[in-house]
Amino acid sequence: MNDINAIGVYTSGGDSPGMNANVRAVVKTAVSFNIPVYGIYKGYRGMIDNHIEELHKNNVMNILQRGGTFLQTARSNEFLKPEGRAQAYENLQKHGIDALVCCGGDGSFHGLHLLIKETGIRGVGTPGTIDNDLYGTDYTIGYDTAINTALDAIDRIRDTASSHDRLFIVEVMGRHAGFIAQAVGLAGGAEDILIPETWTDIPEICKALQKAKDSGKHSTVLVVAEGDEAGGAFDIKRKIEKEAGWDVRVSVLGHIQRGGSPTASDRILATRCGYHAVQSLRTGETDVMIGIQNDAVTLTPLPDTWKKHKRVNPLLEDLIKVLR
Ligand code: F6P
Repeated sequence: MNDINAIGVYTSGGDSPGMNANVRAVVKTAVSFNIPVYGIYKGYRGMIDNHIEELHKNNVMNILQRGGTFLQTARSNEFLKPEGRAQAYENLQKHGIDALVCCGGDGSFHGLHLLIKETGIRGVGTPGTIDNDLYGTDYTIGYDTAINTALDAIDRIRDTASSHDRLFIVEVMGRHAGFIAQAVGLAGGAEDILIPETWTDIPEICKALQKAKDSGKHSTVLVVAEGDEAGGAFDIKRKIEKEAGWDVRVSVLGHIQRGGSPTASDRILATRCGYHAVQSLRTGETDVMIGIQNDAVTLTPLPDTWKKHKRVNPLLEDLIKVLR
């Protein structure tokens, strides 16, 4: 076992439900091995501003079920510069922190990787983003909660869409990835799912919808990922209105998808990743992300999380076409 002096834990990038559960697991695991653990508030910004406090078991009591992140999160332009990272490292040393656990996405991991390379500090990542777009893990912390939140909204929209025989476009999050859209579209019975990974053919979509209308289907829900190459929900609405002349309603779900109490799956994933983050540091691992793949814990080099890409399941595409 590698001797660790103290662990610093932080959440970074967009918050996601389950981040609190992850920090709780890190704190409890570290404390159980008598390793002091410090909370770094507001991610890299707090590292630079020395907003760092020791955490004890009682600091993580009653947070497992809470959405958001009690450590808060922020984006830091300063950390992008070597001087910012040097300042951050100086602050970490003041507290005797020689190992880090970062819960975030690939941008946050990039920052951690640079710090590791420049200073020799040890660090591991845990996958915290609702987008599920991280290579090296089947699911990310927050994704399951986000899709259930969005699904609940889609079910409600379906009620009003069918009451009025309307066409709705529902925009879900996913700046670069269609995981959320694909999952909620499938679970919500969407007539089509528009994602950045596949080409969106508006005339083709209108043709398919017309065919469905002709066979007696009058209400329609299309789910679009915000990062679709054809645009967001309002762009698609304009394009469909131009192509087919239909009246289209739009609902953008936005940040509602980032909040809320984490589901059981997210709590379990967050807890497992937090525990294994500390255990990996103890066995000398560094510069890796903890993930769960096929129910087994895996370690992925941090650079792979932004260089390699997790793909949406192409098999689901065919299934969606058949079911629409
Ligand atoms: O957390 C990921 C994500 O939800 C993206 O899908 C979205 O585009 C982005 O965050 C928006 O984050 P913010 O408003 O915090 O910049």
